[in-house]
Amino acid sequence: LERDLSSFVGTESSLVFSSGYLANLGAVTALAGEGDIVVSDALSHASLVDACRLSRARVVVAPHAEPDVVDAALAAGGWRRALVVTDSVFSADGDLAPLRELHDVVRRRGAVLLVDDAHALGVVGRRGQGAAHAAGLVGEPDVVITTTLSKSLGSQGGAVLGSAELVAHLIDAARSFIFDTGLAPVCAATARAALELIVANPDLPAAARQNAVTIAAAVKQLGFETFDPAAAVVPVIIGAADDAVAATALMAEQGIAVGCFRPPSVHPGTSRLRLTARADLSAAQLDDVARALGQVAKRFGHVTS
Ligand SMILES: Cc1ncc(COP(=O)(O)O)c(C=O)c1O
Repeated sequence: LERDLSSFVGTESSLVFSSGYLANLGAVTALAGEGDIVVSDALSHASLVDACRLSRARVVVAPHAEPDVVDAALAAGGWRRALVVTDSVFSADGDLAPLRELHDVVRRRGAVLLVDDAHALGVVGRRGQGAAHAAGLVGEPDVVITTTLSKSLGSQGGAVLGSAELVAHLIDAARSFIFDTGLAPVCAATARAALELIVANPDLPAAARQNAVTIAAAVKQLGFETFDPAAAVVPVIIGAADDAVAATALMAEQGIAVGCFRPPSVHPGTSRLRLTARADLSAAQLDDVARALGQVAKRFGHVTS
């Protein structure tokens, strides 16, 4: 699985963890510690947030997608090693981080960029090799990629991808690798089979992205706030947490399984449905999604008819 993952994404090496959460924990804590600085996007995934806290490095939370602020934090100095961490595709909003600009900053300041490609692997880029690959960052010595096996690969587990030197260091230093049982063989086999499907069907990533665009258009037409999807994630902002829970149930009653994001996943007042587009949704199924969202709009949205 490690060979398949690194050959698909294009890195020299990779190391599999028993979850994406633990991959982030292991990578960040192995790359930053006391005397170091970690700069994290304000909307980084909770696993990165927890990893930053556990690292004992000084943590600076930069406003969302603002490379200039990251640059200023690093320019201020006072650190031994510096790590910049961000999701590539943000899990609650579905937008894309400014990866090239962040890498320019990191390169200029002698830092390392960790990109969490969980929502991009298998979805972003012509063949689904992820957002770091699409941004031309694969193979850069100062770039570390993390991912989960639980989204486009439909399995369980996580991985860190990068140089052979990085992986050798993680094997010796990443506590969530050393002190955790390895991934179950069935999960590794499932992820490998899914990866094979993505490699054999290069149209799947674009199909997932196109279906997300179609769903987002329906969401907008119903008057909901959303974001232009960079991958498969489409949020539908509902507002109050109770309403989001009820809206999720209403979608389920209509046969559509969606995530319900509420505090602590998102800020109070921005609770939402988190839809994830599959590549194999038919036109009829996309119509069903729009119809189901229409019912949600009638009950919780701004639609009056
Ligand atoms: C951006 C991001 N990173 C990491 C994770 C954690 O991955 P896992 O569920 O494999 O622990 C998730 C969600 O599951 C995620 O959305």
